[in-house]
Amino acid sequence: MWNERYADKEYVYGTEPNTFLAEQASLLINPVLSLAEGEGRNAVFLATRGLTVHGVDGSEVGLAKARALAKSRGVEIQTDVVDLALFEPAANHYGSVISISAHLPSAIRSRLYPLVEQCLKPGGILLLEAYSEAQLNRDTGGPKDPDMLMSMAKIKHEFPNFEPVVLRELEREMHEGKYHNGLACVVQFIGKKKTK
Ligand SMILES: C[S@@+](CC[C@H](N)C(=O)[O-])C[C@H]1O[C@@H](n2cnc3c(N)ncnc32)[C@H](O)[C@@H]1O
Repeated sequence: MWNERYADKEYVYGTEPNTFLAEQASLLINPVLSLAEGEGRNAVFLATRGLTVHGVDGSEVGLAKARALAKSRGVEIQTDVVDLALFEPAANHYGSVISISAHLPSAIRSRLYPLVEQCLKPGGILLLEAYSEAQLNRDTGGPKDPDMLMSMAKIKHEFPNFEPVVLRELEREMHEGKYHNGLACVVQFIGKKKTK
């Protein structure tokens, strides 16, 4: 389904970064792992700010567009095609992990998120934005499966070893290509990995 969507010549989520990420990028620490990077808009933005970015996604078509976008902006990003249901990020390696609209079923999240915690160095930053459960009946974007939508309670439960820097649910205008358009309900989270 994602390869088909990304076969479009256009960048279907646009080429500009997610605005929450752009506003908060100064908090990020090198190197950065981007989960479900898609067509590269977020990784390329971070690379233009001097960060080293490793973008992973299940779609080789999306990641080919990501590398083309990086080339057009004169930056480099590392990309790997992975299934997040099986992905094993290097432990204690990253300064930050970003997850923008990386909507996953709880069966995948329950395996992946502890590995996300482990792949961060102590004090590392996790930045996440996802559609919230309140988005379910809106037609401005996001999955139609409530299990894939987030809430503040799910964030607290699924990332227990992070100190919240930002944790909020809000309604905001989102204009990201042709699939994320209009007033949307989202959860935003920035967490700092606790030092044990
Ligand atoms: C809504 S798009 C968001 C893309 C990008 N983060 C952005 O903000 O532009 C969701 C992405 O999740 C990826 N994805 C979904 N399930 C996945 C899985 N199990 N493994 C790897 N990637 C997956 C898709 O390929 C797609 O690129």
